[in-house]
Amino acid sequence: MDHSPIELLKRQAAERAAALVRSGMKLGLGTGSTAAHFVDCIGEKAREGLDVTCVPTSERTRAQAEGWGLRLSTLDETPELDLTVDGADEFDSALRLVKGGGGALLREKIVAAASKRMIVITDASKEVAHLGKFKLPVEVDRFGLVATRRHIEDAARACGCPGPVVQRKVAEDKDYLTDGGHPIFDCDFRLIPDPDALARALNAIPGVVEHGLFIGLASVVIVADVSGIRVVGQLEG
Ligand code: A5P
Repeated sequence: MDHSPIELLKRQAAERAAALVRSGMKLGLGTGSTAAHFVDCIGEKAREGLDVTCVPTSERTRAQAEGWGLRLSTLDETPELDLTVDGADEFDSALRLVKGGGGALLREKIVAAASKRMIVITDASKEVAHLGKFKLPVEVDRFGLVATRRHIEDAARACGCPGPVVQRKVAEDKDYLTDGGHPIFDCDFRLIPDPDALARALNAIPGVVEHGLFIGLASVVIVADVSGIRVVGQLEG
């Protein structure tokens, strides 16, 4: 395990969320370096007897959970989950998130929407007054890429977000593709004045599979910083 200060903070947030998990629960497992700490916490607890069923949000998380021997399921077999715990690239005081830096936004959003509660675990660096500092990922179908990008640019400009929209690459000549086989556009908006309006506008574009604005999904953010754990939202109930 990486014992750097930031990883220790992420682990603390993960431990706080893991303390809410009870045997019998159906869990959504998020993706990313912070969510990976939660998977480790659940794996450790499972070895001590915690009995949970887990739906992973990416192939990466699936492999990690399998490594711990956790019982895995799918949303087809288990369409309603008790709790999903995931990281975020940004969050604001209204618990609106930007997600998808790790490319798993589509499955993360489907799993979160299938859960009674979504708890986000982060370090304090993810807290922003206004979303947009992190480039907003938009997952698109491969068909009609250029036309879809133009629609995204036009819709974003109309929402006060004129920044560049650039396709994610793994190498100069190789596109990044998600677990679902879709490309991603990273949108460098710097500031999203009205995230709700932008989310609606992106949802309306044919060719957009999903975007990284998670609105109305998270009920709590557990933030770990050097002064301890802080909870934004209502943890119990
Ligand atoms: C994965 O697609 C993302 O949504 C991650 O949850 C998000 O990027 C947070 O990742 P880290 O915990 O690694 O910062």
